[in-house]
Amino acid sequence: MTTTADTRHTRQRYNLIAPLYDLMEGWVELLWYGRWRRRLWREVIGPRVLELGVGTGKNFSHHPDHIDITGIDISPGMLARAHKRAQRLQRRIPLLLMDAQHLEWPDNEFDEVVATFVFCSVPDPVQGLREAYRVTKPGGRLLLLEHMLAKPRALARLMSWLDKPIHWLTGVHIARRTLDNVRAAGWEIESVTSLSPADIFRMIIARKPVAA
Ligand SMILES: C[S@@+](CC[C@H](N)C(=O)[O-])C[C@H]1O[C@@H](n2cnc3c(N)ncnc32)[C@H](O)[C@@H]1O
Repeated sequence: MTTTADTRHTRQRYNLIAPLYDLMEGWVELLWYGRWRRRLWREVIGPRVLELGVGTGKNFSHHPDHIDITGIDISPGMLARAHKRAQRLQRRIPLLLMDAQHLEWPDNEFDEVVATFVFCSVPDPVQGLREAYRVTKPGGRLLLLEHMLAKPRALARLMSWLDKPIHWLTGVHIARRTLDNVRAAGWEIESVTSLSPADIFRMIIARKPVAA
């Protein structure tokens, strides 16, 4: 597991937020996230799926029954809550403390990799997306729900300006160019669905080329 200052900062912030995370996000979950999660998981085929940054396990109730899923997170605090949720839902999900930037699997291990609202906080997102690519089988897919830098320029400038303080406070970057990062990691974009005004929230589906 990497020990860079940025990664430590992210882990500390999420450990701190963990007890309040579900409460803080309750209203966005009800209004938007829950709907978007259902939409994303309907696309998942599997059978062998890796979920990066499971957090407190909010996706667990959306996991299709036919998939064989493994989850990781870098924050022990978030992962402890995910364990409790899995127990409550009576789901057997292997949950591992692991850094998305340094996945501990050999190449071509999974059919699909899924992450929801994770690459806004992975310190080196391109490295994390490259690792996701490495462990995905050729022809396999990456499915993301992410918030990123808005398209309208004025709003993008404001988000870039606020990015540093918000990151310091919460561990989250609000001005990431996630679509560019996915491409930079080698993925071929299959579809991008805008979910909110200004294209801030998007669902991205990408594929590792068969010939990779
Ligand atoms: C905003 S939360 C999203 C949690 C969950 N995916 C959800 O949809 O509610 C981001 C999660 O990513 C995790 N995370 C951040 N950087 C990570 C990394 N490098 N490796 C693994 N998990 C990471 C955090 O610990 C946190 O649980």
